[in-house]
Amino acid sequence: MPSLRAPLNRHDWQKFHRDAFAAQFSEPEAVFRGSPKEISKILKALPDMIAKANDPQLRQGFQVHLGETKNQVQRLEQVFRQHGHEPSGVNCPAIDGIIEETNEIAGEIDDKTVLDAALIAAAQAVEHYEITRYGTLVAWAKQLGREDCAALLQQNLDEEKAADKKLTMLAESRVNRRAA
Ligand SMILES: [Fe+2]
Repeated sequence: MPSLRAPLNRHDWQKFHRDAFAAQFSEPEAVFRGSPKEISKILKALPDMIAKANDPQLRQGFQVHLGETKNQVQRLEQVFRQHGHEPSGVNCPAIDGIIEETNEIAGEIDDKTVLDAALIAAAQAVEHYEITRYGTLVAWAKQLGREDCAALLQQNLDEEKAADKKLTMLAESRVNRRAA
């Protein structure tokens, strides 16, 4: 990490990012929060959200994203393999908290349309979290000249952004209007 006392320049930050990316692939279990294990937690939460969703389009949207998320895990595992590491994960309080909050909120709402609106909000919190993770990883991979990793991670990032957009459209067009 660049010294906090000295003024930071572009080179310092590039070096910091490059070192951090290199570290995460040398010790992925210690540093890489966006691990396959972490995404697996999202995979486990999605069927419950599908079961709770009432709007058919929302349910179908969650279903499609479940399939996409499974592919994302495979891409992440591929990125690890390209670096000669077995994927493994550590506890991640951030994603645990988001999922826990989703379960709490969903358990407190009886009205079906309000529940759908809450599920969309919760799902978007997850998507935004994933977008920040993949966005950072794509940037780091590019700085290290690992275009092969960047391309795989970019596919995950693009899917997350598209999923987030679909949820926004759904919220604006149907669910929130009926819940209002
Ligand atoms: Fe996602």
